[in-house]
Amino acid sequence: MTPVIARTREELSAARGSLHGTLALVPTMGALHEGHRSLLRRAREVADTVAVSIFVNPLQFGPNEDLDRYPRTLPDDIEVCAAEGVDLIFTPTVDVMYPSTALGARVTVDSGQMGTIVEGACRPGHFDGVLTVVLKLFNLVRPDVAVFGEKDAQQLAMIRRMVTDLNVPVRIVGAPTVREEDGLALSSRNRYLSPAERLTAVSLSMALRAGADAVDDGPAKVVRAARTVLDGAIASDPPLELDYLVLVDPETFQEIDDAHTGPAVLAVAGRVGTTHLIDNIPLHFG
Ligand code: PAJ
Repeated sequence: MTPVIARTREELSAARGSLHGTLALVPTMGALHEGHRSLLRRAREVADTVAVSIFVNPLQFGPNEDLDRYPRTLPDDIEVCAAEGVDLIFTPTVDVMYPSTALGARVTVDSGQMGTIVEGACRPGHFDGVLTVVLKLFNLVRPDVAVFGEKDAQQLAMIRRMVTDLNVPVRIVGAPTVREEDGLALSSRNRYLSPAERLTAVSLSMALRAGADAVDDGPAKVVRAARTVLDGAIASDPPLELDYLVLVDPETFQEIDDAHTGPAVLAVAGRVGTTHLIDNIPLHFG
């Protein structure tokens, strides 16, 4: 069955009204790949009906980021959604999501201290923009459950935080990162990479793998093992420009110390050419 496509709030509310049973929402910015598809399948497992939002959210892009060149592939995305049995696609324009309001009069979600560390330190305002659009999507679509990828581990942790702190009545489900055969995490941004840049980009996941292999030796050795792989990529041509490599608590994204036991996330980000790439791996100490 072809999904119902809603572009306006009126179309959305009519389509939402005709869905019965529980609803899972998968928020995306489109350019759908196998990573997104895995979330659609997970959504199908956790609810009776599935909605996807496709919206490139200007609020979460910095002034020097890739908003204008971000891939927009709506006809292909609709086909992917149809193949995955999606019931409803919400694909609003910027005007539908952000009707013009008096300058400075807009209320947004503040992501707090956690929004200013790790990825948030590289992308000021990014998580405020993510949380604002996600809360708006929740209010418009009214899902019972929403599915997010562990690929964006800090985003997932921040959404869980928002839902807890603001008492948002939506259950959050995480889904594991889908990778290429060589380990590169699937991302809509991978299509920007030249073949040579792609070879450098794979070092991110190789570094995480090397870190994970050292987990029995404790946190400091994990970071050292990952860093050694990244040093090779930093010295390569084209080079990796490393933004961060951190070992953090999965819930707070605060860095952990060498005595840490329990779950942790090894997170990495960097640029290859003009492409910003992030990746992470969940670990368990002790
Ligand atoms: P986008 O980058 O399109 O990602 C949509 C969802 O797909 C996110 O939950 C992301 O974590 C997940 N995802 C991306 N790559 C994945 C992979 N390789 N494996 C598994 N899941 C993957 O994240 C956003 O959009 C936006 O910030 C959004 C939440 C939609 C708010 O605008």
